[in-house]
Amino acid sequence: MKTLRNPPLYPRNPLRHMDHAARFNYVTRALMFLAFAIGVLLIGGVALKYATPGLVWKFTPPRLSSTAAHYRHVRVVGAKTGINSETGSAPPRLELSEFMNSAEGVDLYLQCHLELLNKNASDKLSFYQIAAIHGGPYQAWDGVTGNVTFPSGYATHRSVLFPVWHRPYLALFEQIISGCAVKLAKEYDEDVRKAYEDAASVLRIPYWDWAAKPWLPAIVAQPFRTVRTPKGLANITNPLHQFTFPEGTVDGLRAAAAIHKEDPIIWTTGATMRCPQLADHNGTVSDQLGTLNTTLRTYQLFTELDGDYEHFASIGYWDVHHRISLENVHNSVHLAVGTEMTIEEGAEWARSRLCGHMGSDFASFDPLFFLHHANIDRIFALWQAVFPDSYVTPRISDLGTYLRPANLTDNIDTPLQPFFGEDGKTPYTAATARNISTFGYTYLELMDLTMSPPELSEHVLRIISSLYSEKKS
Ligand SMILES: *[C@@H]1O[C@H](CO)[C@@H](O)[C@H](O)[C@H]1NC(C)=O
Ligand SMILES: *[C@@H]1O[C@H](CO)[C@@H](O)[C@H](O)[C@H]1NC(C)=O
Ligand SMILES: *[C@@H]1O[C@H](CO)[C@@H](O)[C@H](O)[C@H]1NC(C)=O
Ligand SMILES: *[C@@H]1O[C@H](CO)[C@@H](O)[C@H](O)[C@H]1NC(C)=O
Ligand SMILES: *[C@@H]1O[C@H](CO)[C@@H](O)[C@H](O)[C@H]1NC(C)=O
Ligand SMILES: *[C@@H]1O[C@H](CO)[C@@H](O)[C@H](O)[C@H]1NC(C)=O
Ligand SMILES: *[C@@H]1O[C@H](CO)[C@@H](O)[C@H](O)[C@H]1NC(C)=O
Repeated sequence: MKTLRNPPLYPRNPLRHMDHAARFNYVTRALMFLAFAIGVLLIGGVALKYATPGLVWKFTPPRLSSTAAHYRHVRVVGAKTGINSETGSAPPRLELSEFMNSAEGVDLYLQCHLELLNKNASDKLSFYQIAAIHGGPYQAWDGVTGNVTFPSGYATHRSVLFPVWHRPYLALFEQIISGCAVKLAKEYDEDVRKAYEDAASVLRIPYWDWAAKPWLPAIVAQPFRTVRTPKGLANITNPLHQFTFPEGTVDGLRAAAAIHKEDPIIWTTGATMRCPQLADHNGTVSDQLGTLNTTLRTYQLFTELDGDYEHFASIGYWDVHHRISLENVHNSVHLAVGTEMTIEEGAEWARSRLCGHMGSDFASFDPLFFLHHANIDRIFALWQAVFPDSYVTPRISDLGTYLRPANLTDNIDTPLQPFFGEDGKTPYTAATARNISTFGYTYLELMDLTMSPPELSEHVLRIISSLYSEKKS
């Protein structure tokens, strides 16, 4: 008898070792069994389908590792409710005091914002993790990893991509709030349910217009708010006041802050802070916004830069003829809120002492960040309407991000990581995030869709002038 030497454990083709008859038997039996199994499945399936009408066949895909090629990322699409299907007109983001006029909208927004703050920090859609995308503590989100060359978040600063990266970032925040509001509205009693459902459908995040109202909005300083919940009136923690860091996160945050030698003073209470040691923080913010000419510089973005995108977009291309940029005005607001500044006579830059998270690389943990950045996005959108042909041109950014080493050229096709579109596979770029209608919102100034581009440009400039012009007394 022939013995096989070194028989392979799993022969490639087991049929090779059989004689003809055995092979025939094996194949026939296998085929018959297969036919029988298919028949049983078919008959069983049809019977089950008819026996239980309305049965939906569900396939639950296996959980995939986030590094797998077929992994689908969080889809950032923005809020998709309340959009007129004929005209495409989307609900506007409103200035905070106007936003406060809808009692139902405010009730939903505050409850949903609070729910987000209270989500477990291990959930990638918790406020903690969403805030952690922007700057510190320099950790991966939604499995988007790369070579970290510089302790930084994913946000692009000192780059032509500064304005546009923050657009899908806010859309992610907005879609979570909107999704929650739509669900919550359904829980109200019948007599008010319609009013809440209508409010939920047009709910978009509000903005703080620090250029027209250079002081802290009253609501952000109130620790509690009374809202009408589906179960009646309730006194809730005001989510716009501060964020309490989830248990076990503060040490990591403090360690990350130490990398950049940030003053540890802001990590002493376990919650975000806004300069508690100052007697009148609101007054200080007002004074500092005034000293930094925030209103005038916002106006000048439209009048002094000749529609030059790279100077408009970023502080990275600063020169003596272009001392203003959106990023620079944006930095001023962070400093005015999160630091105590001293400006010495004749000095080019203000010196500032950190006293709140808004002045740090952890600014996005203060819920005020989203009110501030919604205004930055608005100014960007208005600027785009005034200069529709100006946009991202390839430029080197001298600052790295969580994914991109410093000194690479950013351009219109650079992925705006970690934000992926509808398919969960294609990252946004400046090209695909250019138009705000992609994300299902607009601003009041841009609502009239019947205007031609030159009409819209003039219309927006008139509003900018009436809101921010230095002639305004
Ligand atoms: C958060 O989730 C983690 C992991 O699921 C769990 O171990 C932890 O207890 C949760 N924390 C809270 C405060 O619920
Ligand atoms: C990380 O850097 C190494 C060495 O420079 C390189 O080989 C690798 O492709 C990089 N990985 C990513 C994801 O950029
Ligand atoms: C700050 O001051 C302004 C104007 O003086 C006022 O309208 C606003 O409510 C104040 N904000 C806070 C948080 O006190
Ligand atoms: C809401 O609750 C807080 C904390 O319990 C309390 O200090 C505050 O007075 C309450 N506000 C109202 C309007 O009841
Ligand atoms: C603000 O504007 C005033 C008056 O135009 C000017 O003297 C001052 O230098 C400006 N300050 C800053 C920080 O730009
Ligand atoms: C980027 O380039 C600038 C200017 O050439 C240089 O000073 C800086 O060190 C570079 N940064 C890195 C991280 O290589
Ligand atoms: C933005 O997209 C909308 C909807 O597709 C379109 O009507 C509008 O013209 C676009 N705006 C610009 C400036 O391209």
